[in-house]
Amino acid sequence: MKHDSITGLSGEFIDLENRYGVHNYHPLPVVLAKGEGVWLWDVKGKKYLDFLSAYSAVNQGHAHPEILEALCKQAGKLTLTSRAFHNDQLGPYEKFMTETFGYDRILPMNTGVEASESAVKLSRKWGYEVKGVSENKANIVFAAGNFWGRSIAAVSSSTDKNSRNNFGPFVPGFDIIPYNDLNALEEICSNNNTVAFMVEPIQGEAGVIIPDNGYLKGVRDICTRHNVLFIADEVQTGLGRTGTMTCCEQEGVKPDLLVLGKALGGGVYPVSAVLGRNDVMELLKPGQHGSTFGGNPLACAVAMASVRVLQNEDLCRNAREMGQIFRMELQNLESPVVKTVRGAGLLNAIEIRPYGKNRTAWDVCISMLKKGLLAKQTHQHIIRFAPPLIINKKQILDACDIIKSVILEEEKHNI
Ligand SMILES: Cc1ncc(COP(=O)(O)O)c(C=O)c1O
Repeated sequence: MKHDSITGLSGEFIDLENRYGVHNYHPLPVVLAKGEGVWLWDVKGKKYLDFLSAYSAVNQGHAHPEILEALCKQAGKLTLTSRAFHNDQLGPYEKFMTETFGYDRILPMNTGVEASESAVKLSRKWGYEVKGVSENKANIVFAAGNFWGRSIAAVSSSTDKNSRNNFGPFVPGFDIIPYNDLNALEEICSNNNTVAFMVEPIQGEAGVIIPDNGYLKGVRDICTRHNVLFIADEVQTGLGRTGTMTCCEQEGVKPDLLVLGKALGGGVYPVSAVLGRNDVMELLKPGQHGSTFGGNPLACAVAMASVRVLQNEDLCRNAREMGQIFRMELQNLESPVVKTVRGAGLLNAIEIRPYGKNRTAWDVCISMLKKGLLAKQTHQHIIRFAPPLIINKKQILDACDIIKSVILEEEKHNI
């Protein structure tokens, strides 16, 4: 296969993926070989600012020395026991996480989709055993535009046609209401079979969709009044990304179940978790849920180091400050190509007006790639900007210069 000048020599790696891998992604044509801090290098040695952070899984930056040290030290001692036995990392990790996030118990899993699904299972069990819902009648409510992965349960609650097409039949007992609509939530929660509402405080994959101020408070209030569990899917928004350890904190709200993933593994290992109160978490008994890798000692050591890095380096504050600079710089850019610039902390997006002949956010990402910045479009006209939270002011301003120059060039296509 022929490749254009962007890929050059790296085409051989792309060819291998094209030939032997399943084409379930459409990556930008860059082959990465090394990462450090906010930087990535391709196989030809070209350096890029990483403005995706592996979908917010690398909040602490690539190859963070303390996370790597925890990884290597634990890898040399003990990596996996399964939960058939105890290990000397799990208990300390569970104590650390429950104290850090203010919950009674933690359920350790690996990926975001598993943790989100675990929260769904916990809610159903709570619905039957505590709320008193009749057998097989429990309903879980989700918001339109949600994204929590690709499992059958996750796509069953999805409103994205492309991720559902030909994957049915779907899981029953799921209801969808519009995002940012408290009236719809109130109505559906008044049905006694509703056991939980799972929601992202900011919808990441949907395009960094930010609800009205007070939405999360409203969700908390409605769920409390109707005895419905409020599950916050903070797999993407959590762990400093939006400027606080959890995004819910920004409205002073505590969900009943908190789902974390991505950056919990510090960009080196898949680690996810559900945190919750005793009355929900204690319902799970041996044999009712589990994972061979969940809670393994390597994951626990890495996750503790990952959270400590966020705390010790005050990365929430940095995300707030750098995010503000980023948005201010780009909001000042008056361009017919830019519809909105929005975000919180370092989870930001530019929405582009349909412009030029068949040009989309993909073309903008390609132009940025050529100038040394890696970001990825979500949907046709939205580009998410989510650098590692360790980014400094100079790097943010350099990135803004690249983005501005690409946008200005794009205006030439605006015919
Ligand atoms: C909000 C949210 N929840 C869950 C997930 C699923 O995480 P994973 O891909 O680790 O399974 C994602 C992934 O993007 C996400 O953004």
